Amino acid sequence: MTSREIREAFLAFFNDKGHQIVPSAPVVIKNDPTLMFTNAGMNQFKDIFLGQVHAQYPRVADTQRCLRVSGKHNDLEEVGIDTYHHTLFEMLGNWSFGDYFKREAIMWSWQLLTEVYKIDKDRLYVTIFEGDHTDDLSKDEEAYGFWKEVIAEERICLGNKKDNFWEMGDIGPCGPCSEIHVDCRPDAEREAVDGSTLVNADHPQVIEIWNLVFMQFNRQKDGSLKPLPAKHVDTGMGFERLVRVIQGKASNYDTDVFQPIIGYIANKAGIPYGSSEQTDIAMRVLADHIRAISFAIADGQLPSNNKAGYVIRRILRRAVRYAYTFLHFKEPFLHELVPLLAQQFEGVFNELASQQDFVQKVVLEEEQSFLRTLVTGVQRFEAYMAEHQAITGDFAFELYDTFGFPIDLTSLLAKEKGRNVDMEGFQQALEAQKTRSRAATTIDTGDWVVLQKRETVDFVGYDQLECETTILKYRKITVKGKDQYQLVLSVTPFYAAGGGQVGDTGELVSQESDKRIIITDTKKENGLIVHNAQSLPKELQGAFIAKVDKIKRRDIAGNHSATHLLHAALKQVLGSHVNQKGSLVNADYLRFDFSHFAKVTEEELRQIEKIVNAKIRDNIALKEERHVPFQKAIEGGVIALFGEKYGDYVRVITFDDDFSKELCGGIHVQATGQIGFFKIVSENAVAAGVRRLEAISGRKAEEFVYEQTDTVNKFKELLNNPQDLMVALDRLLVENNSLKKEVEHAITDKALQLKSELAGKALDINGVNLIAARVDLPNADAVKTLAYALKGHMENLFLVLGTEINGKPGLTVVISDNLVRDKGWNAGTIVRELAKEIQGGGGGQPFYATAGGKDGSGLDNAIARAREFVER
Ligand code: ALA
Repeated sequence: MTSREIREAFLAFFNDKGHQIVPSAPVVIKNDPTLMFTNAGMNQFKDIFLGQVHAQYPRVADTQRCLRVSGKHNDLEEVGIDTYHHTLFEMLGNWSFGDYFKREAIMWSWQLLTEVYKIDKDRLYVTIFEGDHTDDLSKDEEAYGFWKEVIAEERICLGNKKDNFWEMGDIGPCGPCSEIHVDCRPDAEREAVDGSTLVNADHPQVIEIWNLVFMQFNRQKDGSLKPLPAKHVDTGMGFERLVRVIQGKASNYDTDVFQPIIGYIANKAGIPYGSSEQTDIAMRVLADHIRAISFAIADGQLPSNNKAGYVIRRILRRAVRYAYTFLHFKEPFLHELVPLLAQQFEGVFNELASQQDFVQKVVLEEEQSFLRTLVTGVQRFEAYMAEHQAITGDFAFELYDTFGFPIDLTSLLAKEKGRNVDMEGFQQALEAQKTRSRAATTIDTGDWVVLQKRETVDFVGYDQLECETTILKYRKITVKGKDQYQLVLSVTPFYAAGGGQVGDTGELVSQESDKRIIITDTKKENGLIVHNAQSLPKELQGAFIAKVDKIKRRDIAGNHSATHLLHAALKQVLGSHVNQKGSLVNADYLRFDFSHFAKVTEEELRQIEKIVNAKIRDNIALKEERHVPFQKAIEGGVIALFGEKYGDYVRVITFDDDFSKELCGGIHVQATGQIGFFKIVSENAVAAGVRRLEAISGRKAEEFVYEQTDTVNKFKELLNNPQDLMVALDRLLVENNSLKKEVEHAITDKALQLKSELAGKALDINGVNLIAARVDLPNADAVKTLAYALKGHMENLFLVLGTEINGKPGLTVVISDNLVRDKGWNAGTIVRELAKEIQGGGGGQPFYATAGGKDGSGLDNAIARAREFVER
């Protein structure tokens, strides 16, 4: 079977068993503070497990693109070195939400592997959870019993909490699991060593392929387990490993998932795959990493200097480093792999093919800039090695942090030179940095105090700015040492930050006491709307009125609707390649990032503004549809964003069916006229192929116009209210230029006149012409002109000029070339000596040097001392 057929067979099998096939979620996670990237198929269903969202279908299956490069599940350092870990991989999964449980999950997995994929039963082992004292959990007898029905008992192994109790992160849904392992060793080896002893022992040929998790608990912050509202099944099968087993290969990289890319790399490098351990590792790193990089970018995460962006940047650098050192790619190369990948994933994850040019451009630019750093880094390494016997932890960390050198490569480089790296010191430096960044961002979150048991929260903010409500639960959080509170309300008009729009602010007023507390922000967390407050109401029970700040809300709505009009206008003016890459909408302004490869010109900006303002004047009424089936919306030509996860039903915001139609959960004006006026205030680049516009509307735009008018009025006033400001300014500039020229001429004339005067006063001392005098010239250029004129005019010259320019004393020393040559005199040394008289310093060349000082009263002394040097 080809990898495509294997994937399709999985989905068809579970579809047959009543599962709805759903699309993969983006690999970049936006609304979960505990996670940066999708690290398991179940992430997109987390809210369902926690009971915070109702499942649309009781059974679903999919292939999910996952990244395990940070946090609890991190395989990055293994990737490439071994043959079965990846940064980005596909996880095939089937789920039951409170529907079937262990029996079906076990029986179906067995059936699929042995009957559809026809994997040899003799090669399969399974594991079950042995129980754990600290969590007070007993052995999973139930799973054991079901497995016994299909597999010999000696093939069922017991596993501990580390291997057989699956948790998404430090907190969150979890449960005992049962894994399926395959023994891919040759028969002779299998006879010699029993496969069951190699299960979970990091043997490259005895590997886990499928994990069946029986979700039953929610791990709390204090480490305890709380039963979930219902029992679920969450399974995950490593697609690349499955393909390898079915295709009978010894490595994931030998399958048709990776071979086309490896072939391309090998061909370009001129080194066959399989020729050396080092070059093989490098090719695997490249073939693997380009997948993570490309999908992260396609899903909206650009490489950057912090958080998720930095993780992606580091993966890219790791790849470039391997390519550069071991495959000798000295020019950008990785980006060439993007089209191959896009093609490979067509029909599976179309996000890449539809943004191929953009992704390629971003990768190219990153490569170019890192290659420049790399060259400097290697030089730094060489210089260090010339002076040191071993590499300290701190230096290894500098290479890692400043030059992006992965530690394994630093040790390889060191090994090549027969030196060691202080790995312990490096780890310490790394830890210290982590602690620093943790301390900078730490938010200490207390446990929720539940007042009323009710998990669903109604948002009424599309229709109301005020409503009656009660507090469901609250908790204390400490941000940078300051206590705050978070509240969940039974009903709320507060919009939680999302889709670029900031969270609402306002107040919560007690109905009994009329006391109020301020709501400073609103956020979404695992499907809950969480309100931030500086303090807690005294009486927590009882009724409250929740009130959104109306004025701010109106400004936000104006900016949000303006953003939609802008997006549509951009596509009209620049072309359909324009895709939203990020946005921010608050009460003051809006920011819009989009893919486009050139600077937006002044004319284009003006054209865009004109379109938006015309649409504002048309006063187009808002068309808001709250519950449109996703597919229907897409067919209706709506703009959906890459990297967003949409549900089956979506909200569609339309301003004129033929102009702007977007999927959006945000707040908008009732008609475009309310936006008032729209003005772009800046345009620049944020990353390769991504431009950023900032714009204002409504009240802010009005203020902007006043400011501009005031400035122009000031100009007019300063120019005595001319009839035509431009003509007057132009005249002023012309006049200014010609005056400048006249002054320059006058100064030069004066310098030349001084030249004749001074030349006449030269003293002949032992054949040297000494001139030492104070001169009155307005700037340094004039002094230089004079000095050079004298030098050209007289032989055997020793010249010292004293000046005072803008109140600052200065000295210039000039010596004829022959005196420098024959007597070894040096103007630099002399000027430094003389400058002591004016409390200053300076320097220059042997024939021309200058100095500045602080004390003008010493100038005459300095000039008088000139003679000393000649006589000496
Ligand atoms: N959530 C389970 C895993 O990622 C299936 O292994």
